[in-house]
Amino acid sequence: MNIYENEQDHLPKISEAELSDEQVMEELHAIREELGDKLVVLGHHYQQDDVISLADHTGDSLQLAREAAKLDAEYIIFCGVHFMAETADMLSAPHQKVILPDMNAGCTMADMANRVEIDRAWENIKKATSAKITPITYINCSALLKDFVGANDGAICTSSNAKKVIEWALEHGEKLLFFPDQHLGRNTCFDLGIPLDEMIVYNPNMQNGGVTPEQIQKAKVILWYGYCSVHQGFTKAQVEQIKKDDPETTVIVHPECSFDVVQAADMDGSTSHIINTVKNAPAGSKWAIGTEINLVNRLANEFSDKKIVSLSPYQCLCATMYRVRPRWLLESFRSIKRGEPINVISVSEEVKKNSLKALERMLKIS
Ligand code: 13P
Ligand code: SF4
Repeated sequence: MNIYENEQDHLPKISEAELSDEQVMEELHAIREELGDKLVVLGHHYQQDDVISLADHTGDSLQLAREAAKLDAEYIIFCGVHFMAETADMLSAPHQKVILPDMNAGCTMADMANRVEIDRAWENIKKATSAKITPITYINCSALLKDFVGANDGAICTSSNAKKVIEWALEHGEKLLFFPDQHLGRNTCFDLGIPLDEMIVYNPNMQNGGVTPEQIQKAKVILWYGYCSVHQGFTKAQVEQIKKDDPETTVIVHPECSFDVVQAADMDGSTSHIINTVKNAPAGSKWAIGTEINLVNRLANEFSDKKIVSLSPYQCLCATMYRVRPRWLLESFRSIKRGEPINVISVSEEVKKNSLKALERMLKIS
């Protein structure tokens, strides 16, 4: 099955010798003015500040997916990672084109589950149990996994609606297969009252996923082994150190962090939840945030009346989000202006059909 309908473009990028950073920003603003309503720029919260300054809409994965579904613009430039642009393409109208400024902006977690592995795991699990299993995929995955979920009566979730979607899945079936992020799955299911000993981890790199048929029969939740290497960098020891140094600091983390970190933290939630919580907190309040560093730094600058630090002393940067740079964006803008758009993400109709079923189910549930 082909995911894409088109060949991908890889044009040479505009070098620093050709244009300075300031000239790049000037040209971006000028082209944008010229193209008017033809073009809309969406920016995920982890994008760098220069890119965010050009975004018409910023948001978490769910907000940007919703935005993409209601825009009229002919061109949607998605400043984020590949799976987000794919989702936007599936939710937008056929006449619209979704562009990803850097085709190498992927997501390492999304790469931890592929369709062959999921098909094989599904077969193994089905062999072990006759219970009704509902597959749920975190939106951080390729369109082929969304297609799988749609074809098997499951749904998609994001970090901000995972609870609602999993609640739906548990009413709908007896067991849950959740991929690719074990942490979001575990943290959410635990919040919903499922004990840890009713969850197992399926590792596709091990024979039969590293689990026995008896373990599959006993488990309520089967978690794929995937994780986000950025969020897995946060540790329980860091939360304890912050609390020891200053017990008045509130620790808030993203649910892609490990179970230990989420349990030790005071709060957890999606990027938008983190932003809104900090925004609504009183002046003088102190925060340690466990998520991507571009967002933490932006919050620290924006809310200078509060003390905001990263939970980790190390730079927890999402290197793939960081690939989207203003000068790559300029390549995209120029290509639209010439009428020959590059890096268009176009998911094939074959894959879109079932993926859309699962996406629409998610939008309905949340
Ligand atoms: P949000 O949906 O919370 O923005 O998360 C997206 C993501 O990739 C976090 O790593
Ligand atoms: Fe993927 Fe992690 Fe980057 Fe989010 S922060 S896009 S999950 S690699």
